[in-house]
Amino acid sequence: MGRNDSTMERMDIHSWSQPDRVRIRHLDLDLDVRFSQRILTGSATLHLDRFSGDELALDTRDLEIHSVENALSFELGPVDRVLGAPLRVRLRPDATWVRIHYSTSPQASGLQWLEPPQTAGKRHPFLYTQSQAIHARSWIPLQDTPGVRLTFRAGIRVPDGLRAVMGAGMDGGPFQMDQPVPSYLIALAAGDLAFRELGPRSGVYAEPQLIDAAAMIRAVEELYGPYRWGRYDLLVLPPSFPFGGMENPRLTFATPTVLAGDKSLVSLVAHELAHSWSGNLVTNATWSDFWLNEGFTVYVERRVIERIYGREREEMEAVLGRRELDREMASLNESDRVLHLDLAGRDPDDGCTLVPYEKGALLLRTIEHAVGRERFDAFLRSYFDYFAFRSITTADFLQYLRRELPNPVPLEEWIFQPGIPAGAAEPHSDAFAKVESGWPTDTTAWSTQEWLHFLRSQSPPDMPRLDREFHFSDRGNAEILHEWLLMAAKAGYTPAYPKIEQFLCSVGRRKFLKPIYTELMKTEEGQARARQVYAQARPSYHPIAQATIDGIVH
Ligand code: BES
Ligand code: ZN
Repeated sequence: MGRNDSTMERMDIHSWSQPDRVRIRHLDLDLDVRFSQRILTGSATLHLDRFSGDELALDTRDLEIHSVENALSFELGPVDRVLGAPLRVRLRPDATWVRIHYSTSPQASGLQWLEPPQTAGKRHPFLYTQSQAIHARSWIPLQDTPGVRLTFRAGIRVPDGLRAVMGAGMDGGPFQMDQPVPSYLIALAAGDLAFRELGPRSGVYAEPQLIDAAAMIRAVEELYGPYRWGRYDLLVLPPSFPFGGMENPRLTFATPTVLAGDKSLVSLVAHELAHSWSGNLVTNATWSDFWLNEGFTVYVERRVIERIYGREREEMEAVLGRRELDREMASLNESDRVLHLDLAGRDPDDGCTLVPYEKGALLLRTIEHAVGRERFDAFLRSYFDYFAFRSITTADFLQYLRRELPNPVPLEEWIFQPGIPAGAAEPHSDAFAKVESGWPTDTTAWSTQEWLHFLRSQSPPDMPRLDREFHFSDRGNAEILHEWLLMAAKAGYTPAYPKIEQFLCSVGRRKFLKPIYTELMKTEEGQARARQVYAQARPSYHPIAQATIDGIVH
């Protein structure tokens, strides 16, 4: 037999297909997206160009073939570890199409099924495909080789309220691709997706939480009165931005690390938006009163999270905040563990610890518990109204509070004494209690909060095991990656060092940089590394971050 040389060169060793005999010209796809079973099910109609023979060889991986319409017979061959299984269809002599009824498997290599907690919105599941290089065959039976190009149409059904998108024409009706493309470029995603137009021929699809703060604005307005600034937009800055977010009126500045879809995303927008009331409307008169900005804002942020994402999520965030507060307070001078700060002779940025944020929010939470939510909500609403567009001191707040809500908690102690007074409204999370109950067996539905709590509860951490089982160094989520790298720096876990260096050179967010450099500087070997990385990374940092790290690495 033997093929000629040019055919040999064109043969694709990664496909069972023989397109020189029968070739797919066009695909009509008709699929149901079943999140509950994690499968796609329906049919693929293949329109064929025939050159010789009556066998159509297709690629499949983990597909369940129910039937093949308009064919004499079909046979699924043995599974090859790399290629998957060939599907051989015996064609009728003059047939120019066949229709394959099939379902994918929950393990399909080209599909990722996300549970609601793995999404930004937390409410709906999400699915997306990745077909390159040879994964299209795990969701469509076809000639899965870049040597074959086909046009396609697709009807994709998703549950009510969700939207499917494809790399194809999407002008209503079925998806449509009229230019012939190779199979590895066929792409589908489905979930709670919104669209924002960028220009006449471009736009962004994303979970609405990523591009739309409308629901949060409504939530704060319902609680505390009107949003008084007109529009609310987000500016996502380059990675050197030294903060998570900055509440510039009408235009929040944000770190690009939020786009990894981590906890900081939703909470950060909730936080900076909340500043439209606490901070931008009612402003701290001096930096010693900084807790009036940040404590109130964290309190409002959590109320928004509870309202939109549910109580469990709010509880997890409150517990994380509470634990971090203790962790940080342990390293602070007594004078920095009070709410009203003495900043004489200091840069106010030095007072920017978790104390104004978390102790401040805990005070408001404690007052809320003491007087009841209804009364406290009414109080805050009138507070924002009464002091609107004014700058106030801690004394102004105290005077107003005493007038409106007589003697709810030991205020003097909360504000002027170090530490957390007895009787604080301590948060609790059942979800975290589960995380603590032993080595996890099923983490598929874990949220970022649960991962953070899991990592922080390891003492001492078994770094090799954590690395082996969960591959934290490969995480795209900046919060989780940061926590892991910080632990690695603490434990002197050298396999993660290249990643630490890469992280320090690519992220400029001070909250992430400061703890890692501080940890490295604790050992002689770490000092050498810290100095070397910092020399390289420093020019890319913002002056504010440079000033902070200059004080740590020398
Ligand atoms: N206003 C602050 C950022 C800030 C504080 C800048 C002090 C300079 C000095 C902003 O609202 C903030 O708190 N950002 C946090 C994120 C937030 C989700 C807690 C941050 O940047 O980490
Ligand atoms: Zn803030």
